[in-house]
Amino acid sequence: MEKDPNILVGIDVSDDAGIYKLTDDIALIQTLDFFTPIVNDPFDFGRIAAANALSDVYAMGGRPLTAMNIVCFPIKDMDKSVLRAILQGGLGIIKKANAAMIGGHSVEDPEIKYGLSVTGIVHPKKFLTNANARPGDLLILTKPLGTGILATALKAGELDKDTTKQITELMATLNKDAAEAVAEVGANACTDITGFGLLGHGLEMAKASNVGIKIDTRKVPVIHEAKTFASMGLVPGGSYTNQRFCSKHLEVDSSVDPILLDIMSDPQTSGGLLISVPKDKAPSLVQKLTERNTPAASIIGEVVKEAPGTIQCY
Ligand code: CO
Ligand code: CO
Ligand code: CO
Repeated sequence: MEKDPNILVGIDVSDDAGIYKLTDDIALIQTLDFFTPIVNDPFDFGRIAAANALSDVYAMGGRPLTAMNIVCFPIKDMDKSVLRAILQGGLGIIKKANAAMIGGHSVEDPEIKYGLSVTGIVHPKKFLTNANARPGDLLILTKPLGTGILATALKAGELDKDTTKQITELMATLNKDAAEAVAEVGANACTDITGFGLLGHGLEMAKASNVGIKIDTRKVPVIHEAKTFASMGLVPGGSYTNQRFCSKHLEVDSSVDPILLDIMSDPQTSGGLLISVPKDKAPSLVQKLTERNTPAASIIGEVVKEAPGTIQCY
């Protein structure tokens, strides 16, 4: 079958969302994400799930237009107020994104799940993918890592109130400000850090762009408490799965703290953007991110032409 020429980003590549060209000036970005509760408070869960679902539009340099709810809920066994709180949390974040909630669908399910299908727009020649990182670029990360480790600690009842609030706000923070800074400065490639962790999504960028990535592990921003729990061995199974998945394409200097490696493969929910930006534009991007108070604005490494499709950690 002949490929539809209007598909600018489709299922043949591993990128954040699909992009379909409508006219010479407008392309649609379409994405969908939903999952089971990651925090105990239903309102906060709704906020986090919505911010996470909207993120893929921002990662591709787009602007979200509309959102639809996807809901699984045990309607016979659980109070409806829980469902209302989830949807209200989500709606607040959708409004923050200046997008319109236009509907959705729910099914009865013993296990709660919530998320959004999001439609956004972008100029067909100006969208960002993970496939255009260039040697000489610097890599910038806009949120600290460790939410997977800390959410696991929360589930085990081991997380204090302050840290719970800290990771909740972090995960409910939209990547909107970061994406606006990227649009102002201009970048070569972008993706958001989610289930595959920094190393997994970084490796996808290295492969898709056919470049090598070097990460200075001491520069990677980490939530302080995540280090504490990781050193106690409280690391989610997904982190080890990610590490195994990356291991063949990963070179780690012996000086690298193994705890940091666990954290760099920690599956994130609603993580930050990983941006590949030309070296001369990096200072101004860091400045614009900092002005907008993004949770982090850290230069964590660089793009090289050697060893394409791999990551070197030092
Ligand atoms: Co993504
Ligand atoms: Co996604
Ligand atoms: Co329906």
